[in-house]
Amino acid sequence: MSTPYLNLTDAAGKVAAFSTAVRLGLLDRIDREPADPAELARTCGATERGVRVVLAALAEGGFVEQLPDGRYRPVLTGLAALHPLIPLWDHLPDAVRTGIPVYDANSASPGNAIYPRTMAFLAGLWGDAVDQAITTLPAATRILDVGAGSEPWTISYCQRYPESHVTALDLPEILPSTRRAITRAGLTDRYTFLAGDVLTTPLEPCTYDLIVVAQVCSLFDRSNGSALIKRLTPALAAGGVLAIIDTLAGSPGSAMQELSLYLRTQAGAVHQPDAYHGWLADAGLTEITSTDLPTKLAITVLTGRKSQQVASVHDR
Ligand SMILES: C[S@@+](CC[C@H](N)C(=O)[O-])C[C@H]1O[C@@H](n2cnc3c(N)ncnc32)[C@H](O)[C@@H]1O
Repeated sequence: MSTPYLNLTDAAGKVAAFSTAVRLGLLDRIDREPADPAELARTCGATERGVRVVLAALAEGGFVEQLPDGRYRPVLTGLAALHPLIPLWDHLPDAVRTGIPVYDANSASPGNAIYPRTMAFLAGLWGDAVDQAITTLPAATRILDVGAGSEPWTISYCQRYPESHVTALDLPEILPSTRRAITRAGLTDRYTFLAGDVLTTPLEPCTYDLIVVAQVCSLFDRSNGSALIKRLTPALAAGGVLAIIDTLAGSPGSAMQELSLYLRTQAGAVHQPDAYHGWLADAGLTEITSTDLPTKLAITVLTGRKSQQVASVHDR
C-alpha cells in the first residue's frame, strides 16, 4: 500500500473514530468509569463489534488505553472537549483562499471562545519533556509566565522550586482556565494573575529572575515576535533569564504545526532557529542556549541572560 493512502486513512480514521466515540457517548461513559466493549455496546446503544474496533483504533491512536481486565479508559479526562476542533479544519480552504484565519488565537476574538475548553489538554501534551525543560532553566524566585495558558511548564517548575512565585499573564478570557489549572495543582498561593495583552500590558521593570514565553512567539509574525522579546527584557532583573519554549522550523512536526497556526492566527508561523537567536541577541541578552526536547511535536527551549552590568546601568 502506498504511503499517501496509509497516511490519509490513518488521519481520517483517527478523526472518525474519535468523533464516533464522542457522538455515541462512549468517551463520556469511560470517562466516568472504565468499561469493556460489551458493556459499552449495551449502555450506548451500539454493536459490540463496532465498539470494539473503534476502541482498538482509539487505543492505537493514543486516545484511550486498555486495562489488564479488558476495560478501556481515556488517557486524559474530558477528552470530548477536543471535539469542536475537528470542524475548524473545514475552514482551511477558505482560509487558504482569503488569508483570513478561522479565528485569531492571539487576540480575544469571538471565535477564540473554543480555546479555553481545549487549552487544558495542552498541559498534557508535553509529557516527560516538561521535566526535561525545567532542568534547562535556572532556579528563580520571581517568574513571569507570558501567555500562561494552563501553565504546563510553571506548575512543574513550582513543584521543583518551592521558593518560586509565578505571575501568570494571559488574555482576560483565558485566565479563568489558568486559575482552574492552578487550583487543581494546589498551587494558588504561589501564583498571581495578570490579565492583559502580552504586547501592551505594562510590566514592572527589573522584577523577574525568569520569564517563560512558551508556545507564544509562534502565534506572531517575525516582527511581533522580535518586538515581544524586546518589550519583555526590561522586566528581567539583572542576571535574569528569558526562556522561549517553541517549535522551530524544520523540526519534526513543524509543517503540521505551521498549518495549524495558519488556520488560527493572522500571521503566526514556526520561525527559523536563527530568528529566535536574533531576537534574544537584539534584546541585549547573552549566554544564549538552545535545547531540543524529544517530544512528538518537537520543542526547543532557548534561553538568554540579561547581563548584571548592562542591567545595573540601565535599571538605575
Ligand atoms: C498556544 S498557548 C500556550 C499556552 C502555554 N504557554 C503552553 O505552553 O501550553 C498560547 C497562549 O498565549 C495566550 N495569548 C495569545 N495571544 C495573547 C496576547 N496577545 N496576550 C496575552 N496572551 C496571549 C493564549 O491565550 C494562550 O493561553
